[in-house]
Amino acid sequence: MPRLAVLGYPVGHSRSPAMHTAALAELGLGEEWSYEAIEVAPDAFEPRVRAMPAEGFVGANVTVPHKSAALALADELAETAREIGAANTLLFADGEVRAENTDADGFLRALPASPIGQRAFVLGAGGAARAVVWALLREGAAVDVWNRTELRSRHLCEEIGGDAIGAPDQTAYELIVNTTAVGLGGEDPFAELPLVPGRFAAEQTVVDMVYGSGPTDLLRAAESAGAATVDGIEILVQQGALSLELWTARPAPLETMRAAARR
Ligand code: ATR
Repeated sequence: MPRLAVLGYPVGHSRSPAMHTAALAELGLGEEWSYEAIEVAPDAFEPRVRAMPAEGFVGANVTVPHKSAALALADELAETAREIGAANTLLFADGEVRAENTDADGFLRALPASPIGQRAFVLGAGGAARAVVWALLREGAAVDVWNRTELRSRHLCEEIGGDAIGAPDQTAYELIVNTTAVGLGGEDPFAELPLVPGRFAAEQTVVDMVYGSGPTDLLRAAESAGAATVDGIEILVQQGALSLELWTARPAPLETMRAAARR
């Protein structure tokens, strides 16, 4: 009975169990495999993970605030996880913990087109921003990064690449990605972020990693300008699909996962 889990703190709002449970059922693995949400405090994270293989776990997703701790405890690191400095996926085999990061490729797969040669603007400098900047640079985009606390965006760019900027011209980019938490608590994105609702254009793609029950104010404004939009649930689905493929070595049923994550 292979077990899977998402480890977070808290995990109450996680859509991952429903999404992965539906995917396992669609793959015909629903009777055998299971996926559960496990809440674990930061100081208990390492012993919890170390105990998992003996409890029948073959892998786990790792979410806030454990993504750096997951990297630190791993016996083996995928290059992506090492370079981003965070892991969102663990695999347990032969008593070893292997750390992977599917956030970067999940983000790229959620985009309507390859960002190669594009000018991209990333807002934020947390863990999500690191994966996005890394992915965009690897694909050959030129990346500017803005953060409320500029010291953090400068530090991110020194480590990963891209240019930390203070005052962006929103019209200069083909791709705009909000990785900040703005909007999660109902904040007005146009009050907190250096973006103006009337300045999006039809040629742009706008991504908001924040998700709730409907389109965010940011995506609504982008949509009314005719821009292509990508929401945080699509990115959740794509990174989840890549994790599932690592654990099961089977192609993930994307439509099923999408429907479950949006329910
Ligand atoms: P994650 O790992 O999910 O990216 P994080 O490390 O907590 O989370 O980062 C949250 C991001 O949202 C940061 O870029 C943060 O900006 P600061 O570095 O200045 O804290 C950003 N953020 C949160 N609330 C914000 C607000 N009201 N206005 C602008 N940025 C905000």
